[in-house]
Amino acid sequence: MTEDLPAWPATPPAHGPVLLRKFTDEDVHLARELGEDPYIPLIGSLPERPSDAQALDWVRRQLRRHAEGAGFSFAIADAGSDRAVGAIGLWLRELPSGRATAGYSISDEHRGRGLAGDALRALTTFAWTIPALHRVELYIEPWNSGSIRTAETASYQREGLLRSHQEIGGTRRDMLLYAAIRADPAR
Ligand SMILES: CC(C)(COP(=O)(O)OP(=O)(O)OC[C@H]1O[C@@H](n2cnc3c(N)ncnc32)[C@H](O)[C@@H]1OP(=O)(O)O)[C@@H](O)C(=O)NCCC(=O)NCCS
Repeated sequence: MTEDLPAWPATPPAHGPVLLRKFTDEDVHLARELGEDPYIPLIGSLPERPSDAQALDWVRRQLRRHAEGAGFSFAIADAGSDRAVGAIGLWLRELPSGRATAGYSISDEHRGRGLAGDALRALTTFAWTIPALHRVELYIEPWNSGSIRTAETASYQREGLLRSHQEIGGTRRDMLLYAAIRADPAR
C-alpha cells in the first residue's frame, strides 16, 4: 500500500555536512561496514558480516520500504562526495495516528563527528513536511550514550523508561523513549 505515504522528497533533506538520499547499488559498502558492528545486526534486517549478496539484498530492501508503505529509508551521505556514511529511517506504519519512529546508524569510521545528529535534524525537518505527522519517536537502550547524544542534539526530549519493552539479541531490553513533536519550539 503506497497511497497513504507522501511522495519521496524532490530535494534531499540536508543539514550541515550530510544529506539524506535514496540508496543505490553503489552503497553496498555501507551494508558491509554496518554489518561489522556488533549491535546493528541485532536491531534490523542486516545480517552480521554480510556476504556481498546479503549486503546488496539489504540495500535493495531499503529501496523497497517506501513502495511497501513502511516509510522512508534514507542513506546518510556526505554532502560533498555523496558517499554513504550511514542510514536513517522514518517509519510510518502509524501515520494514520500521527506518529512515526526513527532509527539511525553511522559506519564506524565516520562516528564521533555528530553526523547522526545532523542526519536526525534533517530527517525531523522533513518529517514536519508531512501534514498528518505530529510526533516522531526514538527507542534507545539506556547504555547507548552515542544514540542519546544524537537524540538530544536534535532536540528530542526524554519521556521515560519503557521497562522490558522489546527483545533484542534474545534478551528483553529496557528502552528510553525520546520524542519530538510538531509543536516543539526548537524546530
Ligand atoms: C549511535 C550512533 C548513530 C551515533 O553516531 P555518531 O554520528 O557517531 O554520533 P556522535 O558523533 O554524536 O557521537 C555520539 C557519541 O558517541 C561517541 N562515539 C561512539 N562511538 C564512537 C566511535 N566509534 N568513534 C568516536 N566516537 C564514538 C562519541 O564520542 C560521542 O560522544 P560525545 O558526544 O560525548 O563526544 C552510532 O554510534 C551508531 O551507529 N551506533 C550503532 C547503531 C545504533 O546504536 N543506533 C541507534 C539505535 S537507537
